[in-house]
Amino acid sequence: MEGQSIPLLTPYKMGNFQLSHRVVMAPMTRFRCDNTIPESNAALYYSQRATEGGFLIAEAACISPPPQGFKSAPGIWSKEHIEAWKPIVNAVHAKGSIFFCQLLYPGKPTQAIVEGTMAWRSVFLKPHKLSSDEISQVLNDFKMASRNAMEAGFDGVEIHGAHGLLIDRILNQSNDGGTNEYGNSYENRCRFALQVVETVTNEIGPEKVGIRFSPFAKYHETEDVDPNPEALGVYIAKSLNKYGILYCHMVQPDNIDGYDSLGPMKQAFNGTFIAAGGYNKDDGNEAISEKHADLIAYGRLFLANPDLPKKFELGAPLNKHDRATLYTNDPVIGYTDYPFLAETVA
Ligand SMILES: Cc1cc2nc3c(=O)[nH]c(=O)nc-3n(C[C@H](O)[C@H](O)[C@H](O)COP(=O)(O)O)c2cc1C
Repeated sequence: MEGQSIPLLTPYKMGNFQLSHRVVMAPMTRFRCDNTIPESNAALYYSQRATEGGFLIAEAACISPPPQGFKSAPGIWSKEHIEAWKPIVNAVHAKGSIFFCQLLYPGKPTQAIVEGTMAWRSVFLKPHKLSSDEISQVLNDFKMASRNAMEAGFDGVEIHGAHGLLIDRILNQSNDGGTNEYGNSYENRCRFALQVVETVTNEIGPEKVGIRFSPFAKYHETEDVDPNPEALGVYIAKSLNKYGILYCHMVQPDNIDGYDSLGPMKQAFNGTFIAAGGYNKDDGNEAISEKHADLIAYGRLFLANPDLPKKFELGAPLNKHDRATLYTNDPVIGYTDYPFLAETVA
């Protein structure tokens, strides 16, 4: 087969899923929802990017109502959300792709972090300390959302543990004065992430669960970033093994040239390892041949090139994404109107 010599286009068995290539669509919030309900054109958007045996991760879906002003991102906490996701999932399945739902805890206007630790600057809003009841509530929200995602027809879920959100914030709390079970030591700081993993795993089964981290990233005014993100990444990757989850998805540092920052985390994790963040075709191929990753998740390239795996196969020129329309709410422009190869060369 033509694609066989290109590592990114070789087949891969991810748990129970047989993938025909390793070019994964990274989760990307597109802010095209109507009051948290996924917009119907999302079915076209995702199905344009679906291939037989491909793997797509949907944009982050909120597990509970988000703070004000965040309503154009989708939810997955209600029956209405489940029904709205169904035709989107069906459209992706009709093209033969595996489709996971990324689960995001959005924070709430008055919420921040776990009791006794440093306050978390919640997404957009003022922090406070989370009580143990609130922690239980968040865990329950993850549980219900994972159940809902399965009811909507998704093949599994990816826990959003990256980019300065609650899980990531707690992972990076290295300096809380030693007061509680969620701060200071790696064991403590990983506790919440692992509680979420355990909760979701118990609900839908480990073979349907992935998690995403970005140990190198600084987001949303998170002042704390572990001084040794690689060690933190390796620790959490290793800790996940106990739960037997399907995959660990790590985002490499923004400023890196190449592909090898995540290798130690890949070595530490027993399941499928997905790498993301600034990869081009060559980096992706190298990362796979050097066994630094099993799969590569592409964000902006997939957004701008609905037929990205085909273009990689043919060595065809790639469309560039349009920054101006990444997050606008037009259901077509910058969303479903990126040209396919045939249209480019016609
Ligand atoms: C428009 C846009 C929306 C994104 N939304 C999410 C998201 O919902 N969840 C997430 O984990 N990462 C999100 N990301 C990050 C991407 O998944 C990816 O890690 C990032 O774009 C780097 O990969 P790339 O260089 O291949 O684009 C988003 C990125 C973009 C460009």
